[in-house]
Amino acid sequence: MTRPRASSWILPTLVLGLALSGCQLGTASVAIRGKELFQTCVPCHGPAGAGRHEVGAPGIAGMSDWYIQQELRKFVSGARGTNFDDLEGMHMQPMALSLASDDDLKAVSQYVSSLPQPRRIATIHGDAQAGQALYATCIACHGVNGQGNEAMKAPRLAGVKDWYLVGTLKKFKSGVRGSNPADPEDVMMHSMTATLADDKAIQDVVAYIETLKP
Ligand code: HEC
Ligand code: HEC
Repeated sequence: MTRPRASSWILPTLVLGLALSGCQLGTASVAIRGKELFQTCVPCHGPAGAGRHEVGAPGIAGMSDWYIQQELRKFVSGARGTNFDDLEGMHMQPMALSLASDDDLKAVSQYVSSLPQPRRIATIHGDAQAGQALYATCIACHGVNGQGNEAMKAPRLAGVKDWYLVGTLKKFKSGVRGSNPADPEDVMMHSMTATLADDKAIQDVVAYIETLKP
């Protein structure tokens, strides 16, 4: 007697229950997979993702998930890290290729993004006041506080290691990064560095960025 009535709710409840538990399991396993994959990043980016200056690997902990994914995809496609003069990019590119699937790419990005942002230590000494004037050009995309802007695909600069910013701006200026038409954002950044006349201007703008709160 009760059987036909019970079946009307047992099945939907079972399906819902399975869907919910599957969902929770999914999130947990993505986090576990992300942590597992991160072990391959540790030799260069460090155990906390704080970066290692001696191998030119920047801090990646706490970066926006979307930016990590954007850059990993560029390394995978070869849009970034395939210029023979870009030693650091050439080291990174095969690492992105070692990620077996887009799910793995997302899992490791999510994990790296969840790590606390590393402390920064000043290694360069530019003129932050002169740099502030130079930074006016950058605001449109990177934000007044260097917070970045996903809609412009422009990453956060505040809190990024100064040596990496200096090295990267030099690469943009020389075209070591920003000559590959497959990477329109880098090509655009290459043209932006025309506003930075020389190494001193690069040091100055970075000294100013270092005053911005991450
Ligand atoms: C063999 C050393 C090495 C390993 C291992 C490595 N990286 Fe890198 N990575 C680098 C270097 C060097 C750079 C800097 C490239 C440059 O200067 O353009 C970099 C850059 C990056 C960037 C770009 C950062 C930015 O600000 O644009 C991301 C994101 C990144 N790595 C993520 C990872 C992840 C995730 C892993 C692990 C799956 C990993 N890396 C493994 C050396 C490495
Ligand atoms: C029109 C928008 C725009 C302007 C203006 C601009 N940028 Fe960018 N910038 C970008 C985008 C987009 C990227 C991401 C490139 C990529 O995907 O690899 C970027 C990347 C960078 C990076 C590399 C970050 C990393 O982690 O590798 C640095 C450093 C940088 N910009 C500094 C500057 C500075 C300094 C200025 C001002 C002189 C400036 N940008 C002006 C859009 C802009």
